[in-house]
Amino acid sequence: MTAADWAARYQADDTPWDLGGPHPELARLLEAGDLAPAAGRDRALVPGCGNGHDARALAAAGWRVTALDCVEGVDAALASDLAASGGELRITDALAFDGEGAFDLVWDHTFFCAIDPTARERWGEMVGRSLAQDGTVVALVFPGDKPVEEGGPPHAFDAVAMGEALGATFGLLHCAPVERGVARRTWSESVARYRRAAADASAAPQAGRS
Ligand SMILES: C[S@@+](CC[C@H](N)C(=O)[O-])C[C@H]1O[C@@H](n2cnc3c(N)ncnc32)[C@H](O)[C@@H]1O
Repeated sequence: MTAADWAARYQADDTPWDLGGPHPELARLLEAGDLAPAAGRDRALVPGCGNGHDARALAAAGWRVTALDCVEGVDAALASDLAASGGELRITDALAFDGEGAFDLVWDHTFFCAIDPTARERWGEMVGRSLAQDGTVVALVFPGDKPVEEGGPPHAFDAVAMGEALGATFGLLHCAPVERGVARRTWSESVARYRRAAADASAAPQAGRS
């Protein structure tokens, strides 16, 4: 789908992906302190933010959130709401975004499944250039068990497919079914966390060696 296609869906109020609030599992993780910012490591990136419910929940939990969407004015108040906590809304092609390694967290919820599968490599490159070296990717993996032949969006994927898009420098830390899912969703939902694989210490240059 093009940006114009997404804009038309918002204009027609045809937005079945919109939960009207943050994903319940994101809310649970934030409440449990499982996704808390640390001092000086509080920048979160939310690509394909839509009406920004997740972005707002992250901001309320102390993250400085940069939210990206290709549709102008998905939520008129979102830009000022995020700015109030040091974040911003950018209307742009998220796949072309360059966060210059400034982000400590990338939260993906129904953005990876919204893009065409042929664009997944670009998604991985965007995350790779935007995330800090020790940053974390946390993703709501949905629709996990949708038959691929049904197409999309939403396009089926699993934690392995997302890991392939991120590339070999990332490792999957954890993937588990959500504890709080969305009742109306019939396909499976999981949460996956990835981190860049630690650099190989034996390959690092050492003082006194030529
Ligand atoms: C399925 S919706 C999910 C929205 C939001 N994450 C949510 O859960 O409500 C996908 C969103 O991605 C946006 N989008 C699609 N392609 C995009 C792109 N290349 N760059 C930025 N946003 C994009 C759409 O406008 C839409 O808001």
